[in-house]
Amino acid sequence: MGEMVDNLYSWLLAAMFVSAVGVAAQGLVFPNPLGRHYTPGWWAIKARTGWLAMEIPAALACCGFYIWFAPVFSWPAIVCVLLWQVHYVHRGFIFPFRLNSGDKPFPLIAVPLAIGFNTMNGFVNGWALGHVAHLQTVEWFGDPRFWIGVLVMVAGFYVNLRADTMLIHLREDGSTGYKIPRGFLFEKVSAPNYLGEMMIWTGFAIMSWTLAGLAFALFTAGYMIPRALTHHRWYQEQFPDYPTERKAVLPFVL
Ligand SMILES: NC(=O)c1ccc[n+]([C@@H]2O[C@H](COP(=O)([O-])OP(=O)(O)OC[C@H]3O[C@@H](n4cnc5c(N)ncnc54)[C@H](OP(=O)(O)O)[C@@H]3O)[C@@H](O)[C@H]2O)c1
Repeated sequence: MGEMVDNLYSWLLAAMFVSAVGVAAQGLVFPNPLGRHYTPGWWAIKARTGWLAMEIPAALACCGFYIWFAPVFSWPAIVCVLLWQVHYVHRGFIFPFRLNSGDKPFPLIAVPLAIGFNTMNGFVNGWALGHVAHLQTVEWFGDPRFWIGVLVMVAGFYVNLRADTMLIHLREDGSTGYKIPRGFLFEKVSAPNYLGEMMIWTGFAIMSWTLAGLAFALFTAGYMIPRALTHHRWYQEQFPDYPTERKAVLPFVL
């Protein structure tokens, strides 16, 4: 059993790196039909149902596989699992109910793809947190990489949550369309929520210092950057007065 799981980890870790390249290439060629980019013709469910189905596995998988496969429990690994859980308990159980676009159509095809990826990602990261040597000793708390990663991750939580909250508040007047977001990091980029998401998983990769964390950080960037570029072009096409100095996702750069 042990050897089989170790082999599975190696194969799925490789699949994560391949997925990161694949999702970036796909997103650049063919924008994901979610939210404003949805087009009629897809088999659809309600967006809230889609978010719940996609993200709840992510809230269960990493923690579950860590508890299942870790030979011993150690504090540095437990802190990594807890921060992962903070993000995914919000994303899986709270965020879908905060959305005011929860009744909009959401392409059904995204659900099995996301469940598959989130389960694979949870397995690979949960296994790594339980096995990578430096995470099994409290000496890792004395390594600057751990604390730099925690800082980047917590800053990412703040940026992602604040930007998503500002977007949600744009419709608190009961409207259903789109407005130009203003204030905070929206003055610099069109998608600060995606910038925050990339910071979260880059921070996680640094604090855990595992290939699994790196693979997920690359996947997140591969998914988020093309989607941010698509959002940015869409804003420019929809709003003639869209701020010209605003970038897509990386302030002053991209
Ligand atoms: N780790 C990962 O790989 C991953 C993958 C996917 C998503 N996520 C995270 O999930 C969250 C949501 O992602 P998303 O792609 O749905 O974000 P999004 O396109 O920015 O939309 C977020 C919410 O705000 C609304 N909204 C966006 N721009 C608006 C505007 N200009 N005016 C009025 N309302 C606006 C959207 O409505 P509509 O739905 O009607 O457009 C939606 O309800 C983000 O925090 C993202 O980082 C992470």
